[in-house]
Amino acid sequence: MTDVDRAEVLQRIEHYYDAVPRRFARVEEHGPFTLFLGKPEGWVYYARPRLGYEGPFDAAAVGSAMDRLGQLGLPAVLEWVHENTPGLLEAVRTEGSLDVEEIPLMLCTRLSGVTPDLPEAISVRILGDGEPLTVAASRAVADVGFAAAGTAAGAEGPAERDSAGKAPQQRVLDLISDGALRVAVAEHLRHGVLATGRTMPVAGVTEIVGVASLPAARRQGLGAAVTAALVEDARAAGVETVFLTASSDDVARVYRRIGFDRIGTGYAAERLTPPPG
Ligand SMILES: CC(C)(COP(=O)(O)OP(=O)(O)OC[C@H]1O[C@@H](n2cnc3c(N)ncnc32)[C@H](O)[C@@H]1OP(=O)(O)O)[C@@H](O)C(=O)NCCC(=O)NCCS
Repeated sequence: MTDVDRAEVLQRIEHYYDAVPRRFARVEEHGPFTLFLGKPEGWVYYARPRLGYEGPFDAAAVGSAMDRLGQLGLPAVLEWVHENTPGLLEAVRTEGSLDVEEIPLMLCTRLSGVTPDLPEAISVRILGDGEPLTVAASRAVADVGFAAAGTAAGAEGPAERDSAGKAPQQRVLDLISDGALRVAVAEHLRHGVLATGRTMPVAGVTEIVGVASLPAARRQGLGAAVTAALVEDARAAGVETVFLTASSDDVARVYRRIGFDRIGTGYAAERLTPPPG
């Protein structure tokens, strides 16, 4: 991939990161930032650099945007793509009150995912309309999976998934029904959903998020398989740019194996303790 192609893809990702929360959150422009104001009891978002803003960033503007989110009772979180907004990191560091996390951005660079061989009795599919119980199971798998960070196998399996299960949110079912939200599951014939992940394609771009396997079902190819299924589903719908962020090098290896390469760096910064005064 040339530098020009990479810059173009990163710009497409920038537009995607602006478009997705705009569909669900109230938006407030605050200096060089857009604040996406989710509901504390619902989906909560963050601030991002304002789309198209090319001026400088300084510590005062960062602090002011985080103060505003704090005043609204929302998490003071700022997210950005380093290559698209290179001046922001220094302003965040100078402001000094945010914990900064670097997150590798990875793009699917092969034409389609290579579907891994799966154990017998396990199949992978994209959920359709009218499957509330499977949607609920998928959400519970994500909850149990993300609670056991890293890629190691562990004890938690279908029993823990079933005790974590909550009723599916109606708006999630509506999004699936509209085709806006695509949820993949790896299911065992008897034990049900063991791994999951999802996409929300917008204008030819999608991020794959929420990929998780129950710890007891890890290291058999399920994480790779649901990710590959989401890539294939997106490609079939004409989505050219399929990207994701990897929470660690171990996780990145799972994605690299099925055709993702690092193309940039995302940052997520959060003010955990309000500054004095
Ligand atoms: C990341 C995660 C989804 C991976 O799920 P998984 O189902 O274990 O993924 P896979 O089985 O495809 O790959 C994991 C490892 O098992 C190996 N593996 C796959 N099939 C295998 C098989 N049949 N036999 C032995 N090993 C196998 C893979 O090669 C990989 O090895 P590596 O760690 O050396 O690279 C899972 O660990 C998880 O839920 N973690 C917590 C949540 C999380 O961090 N999600 C990612 C957010 S970005």
